[in-house]
Amino acid sequence: MIRPFVNVVRVSADCLGNRRRRGAARLRRALVCGLVAACQTAAATPPAPPVPLSPEAAPANLQVLHWWTSASERKAADLLAARLAEERIQWQDAAIPGGAGIGAGKVLKGRVLAGDAPEVTQMIGPSIAEWADLGLLLELDNVAAAGNWNRFLFPSIEALIVHRKHVMAVPLGIHRVNTLYYNRALFARLKLAPPQNWAEFEAVANRLRQAGILPLAQSSEAWQVAALFENLVLAESGPAFYRELFVQLSSAAAADHRTGEALRRLRTAKGWLHGRLEERSWPEVVAAFAQGRAGMMIMGDWAKSELAEHGAALDRDYGCAAAPGTAAYHLYSVDTLAMFAGDYRRMPAQERMARLLVTPALQADFNALKGGVPVRRDADPARMDSCARASWTTFAKGVAVQAPSLVHRMATEEPSRDAIIAEVHRFFMDDRVPVAEAQRRLGALFRLFNLKNQGAPGAQDTDRRR
Ligand code: GAL
Repeated sequence: MIRPFVNVVRVSADCLGNRRRRGAARLRRALVCGLVAACQTAAATPPAPPVPLSPEAAPANLQVLHWWTSASERKAADLLAARLAEERIQWQDAAIPGGAGIGAGKVLKGRVLAGDAPEVTQMIGPSIAEWADLGLLLELDNVAAAGNWNRFLFPSIEALIVHRKHVMAVPLGIHRVNTLYYNRALFARLKLAPPQNWAEFEAVANRLRQAGILPLAQSSEAWQVAALFENLVLAESGPAFYRELFVQLSSAAAADHRTGEALRRLRTAKGWLHGRLEERSWPEVVAAFAQGRAGMMIMGDWAKSELAEHGAALDRDYGCAAAPGTAAYHLYSVDTLAMFAGDYRRMPAQERMARLLVTPALQADFNALKGGVPVRRDADPARMDSCARASWTTFAKGVAVQAPSLVHRMATEEPSRDAIIAEVHRFFMDDRVPVAEAQRRLGALFRLFNLKNQGAPGAQDTDRRR
């Protein structure tokens, strides 16, 4: 375990009112100051000086905090552990259940505050920059420079892991959140084609309903409802507007008719659940779809691996297509691991791990098990299944077709993301909330968060508000 001493002095100056950081968001200050208090308590014994040890002498067990707890995710994590073992690194597992890392994010904060940071953690999207700003993460510049990461990473992947010109995380794989799964036997029997847009989706849903089949496998869990909503927004508008709404948090975008239309469709989708609003975990939703209890499902491509756990094969039992209206786009979530700095004895092992994770072989094998696609531009699409190939080739078209998933922390910082998810969920659960009212409330939230972020450290970074 690592006690985060690094940069405590620099951060303490902020808590004492350093004018250079004037205007920093209050939330961030609260966390920073809380961390400093924890660090200073822990600092009763001064940190050991950075004595460089040879890699051979380095302790080689690393604790990894992550949220891969379903059967298929477990296999992907086990593959990483096995490959690390070959490098004499022992993976100490700290898995926190909860889809989309809802629980893991909270546990991580608690552990860091208690001076008990893991050496490695799943940390994704703008939260990497937030933690980096606190000075707690290990810079991986040497590993990235020696391995020429900039030659093979997709530019938008590089932008995700580089903060203030330093490499702060290791990218593992890209998930496509706008993925539609359909039951092939059912579709063949009813002579249905996978819907290309939401009007076609409604027609297919009606046919399924007439045949006594639930059209859509969908949970009422907040993040899963919001995941459907972000798909609807993207279909209704495209990546440019999507970014205005979820990255820039523009209140004009919240009031726009396209947001209203996406909300209306979300309400229609609720109707296809036949009143069965069940707060099921995503693996349970996958199980229901695998058992033929619903004709379609919209979920990130990690569901493919979970479907395999149920014996369902892609292109035989189920088909994979882009979610309606989004074939040209890639709604992405990128899994990244960051390392906590502070215990210099662990550094050689942390760096060896970082080096290993981006190698072509590990990228190909891990992503085949996890359901995502490699973060490398030089990956071989011929080695991918049809669903992964479509994902990788679409993502490779560049930033104009890419939309960062709000739900999976790619678009905005954690407090605003949580508040948007809660608002969308409230609208979904309560049919009495008019569409215009939900739009007004989203607009008010956006104004609040933009106010808070004004002048916050990094607020001007182009990286952060892409
Ligand atoms: C995402 C993550 C995926 C998968 C999914 C479901 O945030 O990128 O790897 O775990 O959540 O929990």
